[in-house]
Amino acid sequence: MDYTEHLAQRLRARIQETYGADVEGLSEWLETPPDPKMGDHAFPCFRLSRQLRMAPPKIAQMLGEGFAPDAYIQRTECVGGYLNFFLNKGGYAEEVLGNIQRMGDRYGSGEEGKGKTICIDYSSINIAKRFHIGHLSTTMIGSALYKMYSYLGYTCVGINHLGDWGTQFGKMIAAYIHWGDREQVEKGGVAALSELYVRFHKETEDGKNPTLEAEGHEWFRKIEEGDEQALSIFSWFKELTLKEAERVYDMLGVKFDSYLGESFYFDKTGPVVEELKAKGLLKQSQGAYVVDLEPYKMPPCIILKSDGTTIYATRDIAAAFYRKATYNFDKCLYVVAYQQNLHFRQWFKVVELMGYPWAKDLEHVAFGMVSYEGQSLSTRSGHVLILEELLERAVEKAREIIEVKSPQLENKDEIAKQVGIGAVIFFDLFNSRIKDIDFYWDRALNFDGETGPYVQYTHARCCSVLRKAGGAPEGQIDGSLLQDPLAQALLRALDELPAVIREAVKRNEPYLVTRHCVQMAQCYNRYYYENQILAEEEDVRRARLALTDAARRCIRIGLNLLGIQAPEKM
Ligand code: ARG
Repeated sequence: MDYTEHLAQRLRARIQETYGADVEGLSEWLETPPDPKMGDHAFPCFRLSRQLRMAPPKIAQMLGEGFAPDAYIQRTECVGGYLNFFLNKGGYAEEVLGNIQRMGDRYGSGEEGKGKTICIDYSSINIAKRFHIGHLSTTMIGSALYKMYSYLGYTCVGINHLGDWGTQFGKMIAAYIHWGDREQVEKGGVAALSELYVRFHKETEDGKNPTLEAEGHEWFRKIEEGDEQALSIFSWFKELTLKEAERVYDMLGVKFDSYLGESFYFDKTGPVVEELKAKGLLKQSQGAYVVDLEPYKMPPCIILKSDGTTIYATRDIAAAFYRKATYNFDKCLYVVAYQQNLHFRQWFKVVELMGYPWAKDLEHVAFGMVSYEGQSLSTRSGHVLILEELLERAVEKAREIIEVKSPQLENKDEIAKQVGIGAVIFFDLFNSRIKDIDFYWDRALNFDGETGPYVQYTHARCCSVLRKAGGAPEGQIDGSLLQDPLAQALLRALDELPAVIREAVKRNEPYLVTRHCVQMAQCYNRYYYENQILAEEEDVRRARLALTDAARRCIRIGLNLLGIQAPEKM
């Protein structure tokens, strides 16, 4: 039970019995006294004073007089217009630790999502393009949300909406037919495909080679028509791309339930176009068919281009219908960069105009750009940072640090993976989504700052203390031994974890959990430096170990929800 919520409830009842008035939302009125000696919470009576036409000190006094102590509230005190509360800190400690022990590794989980389905469209990479760090955020935010929603009982469907449709694939086939050979592409993988594509562009630049250009279009037409040769080359390209992506997903511990991409919706756009026509929503404009969005202050949403082909948005609309019919989602999230804001606003509006009330359940979970050590990343300038290389380098660097810090550690390779990759994920999930990220090695891999390794290290420290003690204490502990401010601050941080997870889900903001991991770790470290955990006295030792075990558990839960491992030794 949340302490402030409890206080608010008691206050509400007390106000009711004293004045016959029902006042809601009291938890928001509560303040923290400037000096802890004055109490843990202060209730200001000034707002009530207006309502009741009575002086604030008088109200504080009247409310305080009949306020019976309970398991949470030790005593009250009136100071001017405030009614101050002293909490039962020992009781609080026992309550928090008891909750964590009871729930174990599921502490903070819940059932509130039971029976509700959330589709999450994330990562959604493009075929024949290298997996660069521009796709890190969508992958990790989506995966973290998947874990958090699942933790609260929702059924999640993780969808990798592959970018596998468009004329570029026809061009790629043409390039391959001209200059590629099977063995070389098989060996070179996506990099070899990219090269072929770049060459095609060079050769056709400024209308230099219209024949080649036309061949590209012809090959795409063949894909559309289901030509066997075209399809077999195309699906091979896809296989190659996914094979490389799968390696990255394995490193990141990311999974999907569906890989249905844009090509899957090619033959499902027809009914959408028909329905739009039937509902009178399609307008012809310069040969193309569009939905006018002028009244909503947006440019028109193109549905069919003048050559009769569909666009990205059309396929997204068809995909939304498919997902609604297949999963009957309560929410469908699109974890996609904010550059695509307009795209999503446009087609969400089109679905709404078609009269589907579930349009309101479509949500664009936007995020900012990633740059690397101060340089922006753009595929076109050739300055791309391949995600796999970044992760490998992170592991190498973590390995070097471990070699210096703990040369005697067993399975250093495995731990270096967990730390290096964890650092990258943590860095990516550290700020509010919408902020741009500039990735720096020294910041990501710092063991002391607000980083993944720091939090992991704190977790390993808890584990090490518990190992030395021969395990966590069993049975009841004496909470009155955990009344000091540092213990109480840690308890409060652990107590808040379930609410933080819920807020993160509500706002689709994994960083709230990331930040809370740092907070829990800092609180534990402060306590650890000021207190000898393995104290002489049995009772004290038990209480401190129980606190350590709870901290270990909560930090691990937090890290795991972000998709980060928590090694027991580092
Ligand atoms: N493949 C696209 C890109 O890399 C992202 C697709 C996002 N999902 C969607 N349903 N539009 O930009």
